[in-house]
Amino acid sequence: MTDSVKLNAAGKDLDLKVLSGSVGPDVIDIRKLYAQTGMFTYDPGFTSTASCDSAITYIDGDEGVLLHRGYPIGQLAEKSNFMEVCHLLLNGELPTKDELDKFSYTISRHTMLHEQLATFYRGFRRDAHPMAIMCGVVGALSAFYQDSADITDPQQRMIASHRLIAKMPTIAAMAYKYSIGQPFMSPKNNLSYTGNFLQMTFGVPAEEYVVNPVVEKAMDRIFILHADHEQNASTSTVRLAGSSGANPFACIAAGIACLWGPAHGGANEAALNMLREIGTVDRIPEYIARAKDKNDPFRLMGFGHRVYKNYDPRATVMQQTVREVLGELGVTDPVFDVAIALEEMALSDPYFIEKKLFPNVDFYSGVILSAIGFPTTMFTALFALARTVGWVAQWNEMISDPEQKIGRPRQLYTGPTQRDFVPLADRT
Ligand code: CMC
Repeated sequence: MTDSVKLNAAGKDLDLKVLSGSVGPDVIDIRKLYAQTGMFTYDPGFTSTASCDSAITYIDGDEGVLLHRGYPIGQLAEKSNFMEVCHLLLNGELPTKDELDKFSYTISRHTMLHEQLATFYRGFRRDAHPMAIMCGVVGALSAFYQDSADITDPQQRMIASHRLIAKMPTIAAMAYKYSIGQPFMSPKNNLSYTGNFLQMTFGVPAEEYVVNPVVEKAMDRIFILHADHEQNASTSTVRLAGSSGANPFACIAAGIACLWGPAHGGANEAALNMLREIGTVDRIPEYIARAKDKNDPFRLMGFGHRVYKNYDPRATVMQQTVREVLGELGVTDPVFDVAIALEEMALSDPYFIEKKLFPNVDFYSGVILSAIGFPTTMFTALFALARTVGWVAQWNEMISDPEQKIGRPRQLYTGPTQRDFVPLADRT
């Protein structure tokens, strides 16, 4: 470990401070670089830039490690539940029994939506993508919960965080119900967070919905696996939006918009669509060849990751969960056989080995969600639901940081240099 690194730039010798975290690579502090040299750094896609310090989640992509507040994701997925993980991410520690009861009670008391919000849904087309509805409705929360929009008040910040975690399942389930023309189901506080979400999604008023404990456990695990992932694109979006002082509901709506893209949260939908398009094991080589072809924009969806250059630890848990769910529900989906064979073939192919492309969390999640009964368009909405706790935890951490500043990246300008305005009549 060094205390500083030397840089010779613009004819000046600089000593740049090196900062160390509790684990992971050191970072070079370049905050004074522009003032001292008149130069910026250039890092599109932030491949080498730490935008903040954070004590929430740690990833070692080379080793395939993911820790939340120090706890490995595999242990949390196996031994914990989503409410505990929410408490952990938001408050820093696993809850005691009393704390968990209190936290779960608080969340369950915020699950209902303002009645007026239900009318928003009727403004959407029935075939609207659930993520379009999520962006709109979550953004609209700021018009309904103004009593928790003062970001300078820690109490209001916590109430807004609880509201977002609690209302997201209701909002997502209502988007689904609207798309199939069924009545909205009210939340039920005697059910778990996840059981209640299943009830609001698959229940109907005509009969009592019975939660299948295997499906509930699998769904809860999927929520845990998606709960946070340090400074990914949507979390960075939430932080950037929040850095201007915007209210938390607007910030989370921004995160949802970013998550929607196929390179991020939309990959689970794209991965299942791809597996269905491949259809049979004998067609896999054709798709692998396309993924390797530089002239073909096709990529194996659910493969590769900006940070993991090893097996995504979340994909390992997902693979086990697929077997449990398919077994319980008695579903034999040929798409699962295609997924297993595709993984095997890709992992023995030099292209994928050299580029360190492994299955990510999205590769198997679609198979599980489809077996449970979700249409593919709902997959990303489920990701948004689960990631909300990560977004609010990171947003709270940022707002509480006394060194927090508005996020304002710089650029390398390549446009025209200054020129004089030409009146319309004189333009050729
Ligand atoms: N199939 C085929 N080739 C790939 C793939 C893939 N899925 N992913 C990366 N590559 C190649 C890419 O063509 C490039 O090759 P070359 O060096 O010859 O130009 C090399 O690997 C590096 O790719 P990159 O795009 O520079 O890497 P990145 O870190 O910018 O992208 C990624 C990461 C996740 C966007 C990308 O791997 C990808 O598009 N994967 C498919 C989409 C996907 O599954 N996304 C879900 C990510 S996990 C959930 C989440 O965090 O939201």
